[in-house]
Amino acid sequence: MMMMALMKVILCLWLTVTGVSASYVPQEMNKTIQNLLQHYKIPLVERFNGNPVFPKDSMDGNVEMKMIFMHGVLETYEDLIGHMLKQLPTASPPLGSNQDKPASPGTSNDDAAPVKADVRSKLMYILEKIQFLKTHRYQEQEKLLHRLQNLKKIQMDNRTVQSKALWELPQLFEKASSLADNTMRRRRRRQARNRMRLKA
Ligand SMILES: *[C@@H]1O[C@H](CO)[C@@H](O)[C@H](O)[C@H]1NC(C)=O
Ligand SMILES: *[C@@H]1O[C@H](CO)[C@@H](O)[C@H](O)[C@H]1NC(C)=O
Repeated sequence: MMMMALMKVILCLWLTVTGVSASYVPQEMNKTIQNLLQHYKIPLVERFNGNPVFPKDSMDGNVEMKMIFMHGVLETYEDLIGHMLKQLPTASPPLGSNQDKPASPGTSNDDAAPVKADVRSKLMYILEKIQFLKTHRYQEQEKLLHRLQNLKKIQMDNRTVQSKALWELPQLFEKASSLADNTMRRRRRRQARNRMRLKA
């Protein structure tokens, strides 16, 4: 046991000294992002204007809520990178499509072509990383999302559906209320505990 603990300490020290942090972001991925940022350059005042795209305070709550939110973040990144890929000029435009158009900056520059291909493959790599995390670690959240989407799909104009839903309402209303009540009571208890701790 002692030996194991000692080895862990040594490993940690070694990781710290060699600068290999035990991060979930693979070095290759981080490097790729840093490279992409060379292409997607913006002024520093804009980057650090205190207005992030994904506000930190939306990530509060219990673990389940955080994971649901994070699933949404991953999905948004998927869409975003899809847009970024679409905005890149295609590597080989269909014949004749480019000939009678006036040269526009950024699309007709021959020197830029290899750079664009590089950006494309880097974006694809990042997208794969995001999709891997989402499909392998966020399955529960994905299922929940689909269930939520199905909820909205009921036939609102169907009399049978309307009647059955009305019949199911008392139980569901009871359940929804008690769930909210329990959550609030738990929160109050936690706040009370925290106050006690502050006084002590
Ligand atoms: C990514 O790389 C940058 C610059 O090399 C470094 O400052 C940062 O700590 C790295 N982040 C992670 C999560 O590895
Ligand atoms: C209404 O919903 C019921 C139950 O889902 C279904 O059997 C029925 O075919 C629906 N009627 C119409 C007109 O869509």
